[in-house]
Amino acid sequence: MIIQMQLSNNKPIIHSANRDNILIAAKMLQSGAQIGGGEIVAFPTETVYGLGAAAHDELAVQKIYTAKGRPSNNPLIIHVDGLEMAQQYGVFNERALALAKDFFPAPLTLVVPLRKETVASGALAGGDTVAIRCPSHPVALALIKAAGFGIAAPSANISGEISPTTAQHVATEFAHLPLFILDGGACEVGLESTVLDCTGDELRILRHGSIFAMDMNCSPLEGERVSRAISEGKPWGADNNFIKSTLKSSIKSPGQFSSHYAPKSLLHLNVVSPEPYELYLGFGDYHVNTALNLSESGCLIEAAHNLYDYLRRLDEIAQNNANISNIACAPIPNQGLGIAINDRLARAAFAK
Ligand code: TXA
Ligand code: MG
Repeated sequence: MIIQMQLSNNKPIIHSANRDNILIAAKMLQSGAQIGGGEIVAFPTETVYGLGAAAHDELAVQKIYTAKGRPSNNPLIIHVDGLEMAQQYGVFNERALALAKDFFPAPLTLVVPLRKETVASGALAGGDTVAIRCPSHPVALALIKAAGFGIAAPSANISGEISPTTAQHVATEFAHLPLFILDGGACEVGLESTVLDCTGDELRILRHGSIFAMDMNCSPLEGERVSRAISEGKPWGADNNFIKSTLKSSIKSPGQFSSHYAPKSLLHLNVVSPEPYELYLGFGDYHVNTALNLSESGCLIEAAHNLYDYLRRLDEIAQNNANISNIACAPIPNQGLGIAINDRLARAAFAK
């Protein structure tokens, strides 16, 4: 009854993330047994918004893949409220346990061997490992606790497009879906979590984020070549063969396809002097004819927070203005959080 009321319109509805609405969202996730698959709900995390289903609910998980148009070979992250719940889904060896104890809750996803039969097989893409993360956002944590189980959730965007960092972004992505969206404000970090493979002899970063390789004492494998290309100042952009082959060969996580996080408009990178027909996304002192500046003070944390929102805004302007041919982004220093920012920009610039 409650659920039917929440989903009666054929469009997304944004609900403030108060206690009552978190409980309604939890009930929607739990509703699987009665109505042939629980509902999916969108919720905030400290990184980006997620599109969640009960981790054990095969039909609900399928709804995520359908809504996003996500390839079925790309597994989902299971969001948990702490180490105890994490261990219901994955097998943590000593090293993974130490990392979880040190970092959870955090924008860090650990890939570990699967604990059998606890996760819907659709969420695992046929693999025998599982990606687990404990988000630090209070709304995400409250939702997981209220549901009482892990939530399988990718970023709440159509597959391949820019991840959402506000509830409004989610509503824009799924304009024709009767989706329940919990609004917890703008995501603080603004970039997806660091994904760390803990299944081999060596810890390896599969996706860069705001938790750094040096903090975890591991090798930054995925993106390493991209990072090197950027620091060597290779001329690159959407149509550059060097960056295409570099990105292709560095795929280690099924979801790290080359074209990702992409605006509809072409994106050129490392641009110091934009042309009049380019919309310029500035950074620090690079602000000639700037449409938007990721961070006037040159702060990478602020730049990460603004990145997806600003890309969306410029994309909309570019798409509706015949005099603009593309977006051009200023150079971003390739250190610290800049590595993750450059990784996302490289994928956004990669022609589909
Ligand atoms: O910050 C985040 O991680 C956000 C929020 C919502 O938590 N989620 C997110 O999910 O970015 P998604 O689905 O957009 O990206 C998850 C990434 C994909 O690249 C996927 O291939 C990878 O994690 N992944 C998931 N399970 C995996 C596994 N078992 N082994 C290796 N990579 C895995
Ligand atoms: Mg995603």
